[in-house]
Amino acid sequence: MNDFMYYNPVRVHFGREAMAELPGELEKFGKNVLLLYGGGSIKRTGLYDRILADLRAAGKNVFELPGVMPNPRTEKVYEGIEICRREKIDLLLAVGGGSTIDCAKAVAVGACTDKDFWQAFFKDWETAEAAIPLGVVLTLPATGSELDKSSVITNMAAHEKNSYDSELTFPRFAILDPALTYTLPKAQMVNGIVDTISHLYELYISPPDEECLTDELAEAALRTEIRAARAAAVNPEDYDARADLMWTSSFALCGMLNNGKKTDWASHCIEHPISALYDVAHGAGLAVVHPAYLDYICLDALPRLRRLAIRVWDVDDAGMTEEETAREGIRRTRAFFRELGAPATLTELGVPAESIGRIADLTDLGCFSYRRLTREDVVSILKTAL
Ligand code: NZQ
Ligand code: ZN
Repeated sequence: MNDFMYYNPVRVHFGREAMAELPGELEKFGKNVLLLYGGGSIKRTGLYDRILADLRAAGKNVFELPGVMPNPRTEKVYEGIEICRREKIDLLLAVGGGSTIDCAKAVAVGACTDKDFWQAFFKDWETAEAAIPLGVVLTLPATGSELDKSSVITNMAAHEKNSYDSELTFPRFAILDPALTYTLPKAQMVNGIVDTISHLYELYISPPDEECLTDELAEAALRTEIRAARAAAVNPEDYDARADLMWTSSFALCGMLNNGKKTDWASHCIEHPISALYDVAHGAGLAVVHPAYLDYICLDALPRLRRLAIRVWDVDDAGMTEEETAREGIRRTRAFFRELGAPATLTELGVPAESIGRIADLTDLGCFSYRRLTREDVVSILKTAL
């Protein structure tokens, strides 16, 4: 097991009554609150009215940043920063999925500096000196942003999708009520499941290979996610299935599963330029990229992929070579994504073959574990995904 530092300060309220904890959390912060949300799902579900009532009852001055788009863009962050400076915002309250939370994190640090937030943090990775506190009400289990410190923002003009993190961008609290996810369209639910499995793979499919608690936890999380995904696909209002999906996606990125591991993230690094160039949903992009990446590195990661096949996908390896077993695990991963209805090829995503070179040019090659990728490797991986 490698050495590690573990820190996670997020206070989590989880369950059917979790929303009842919002007033108590609001009391801890100042009067001026910026409410951030997406394209309108929270208004359709009634969540907006409920939260506004809580804010009013707490005597808050409420300002709003609506319309945070999937793959949140720099323009929306600048808009939020402007409101924070003008209205002296004390608390950012992000209600939605990863896009809204990530936008709020970027606003949180961007509003506390005179520098341009994109250049300072998402390009130069400067250390943030201050941030506005952030609270979260999660409506889409996927990115783990509610329990981590990362923010992923897209600069459409530059075709860049970059990430930033700082200990100041951890949410102060996260409210996780699984029933809030019943209204998710099936495609969004599936994107979230694929993203969660991809996060677990990025952490688990990396050295060291010795037995350790972190790997056992990741295997349990993967098995839980697969079981709960199947149950929620049959009955979208299966509370226990939704609860497992929500907690597994948060747990995946809370930091516990990094402990002692190198971690990988190559599939995420290949997917990010695809979303930046074609504005595809992150989970949909990963459904195509991650299995293709695993097939490509199969021989470099053989013992680990064999273990994944046996312990997570229940492959009976009697009479099979190590490579056959490993490849069967990858095949079952792909088949599972397909069973859920996720896309399987770049063509299905609307990404043309001619763009592969450009995607490879924009891929950050600094993230790897078993095998250091070159630009040509990325081209080869993407060609197998056409
Ligand atoms: O915008 P509204 O109308 O709210 O609709 C949203 C949006 O269209 C809808 N939705 C959310 N909750 C709903 C709902 N519809 C009905 N009922 C509900 N309960 O779902 C759509 C997608 O939302 P979005 O927030 O974009 O999805 P997700 O949570 O998958 O976030 C994706 C973003 O997070 C980044 C991705 O790259 C992408 O930009 N990531 C962030 C990470 C992090 N911070 O650690 C890590 C991830 O790997 C990822 O890169
Ligand atoms: Zn992801």
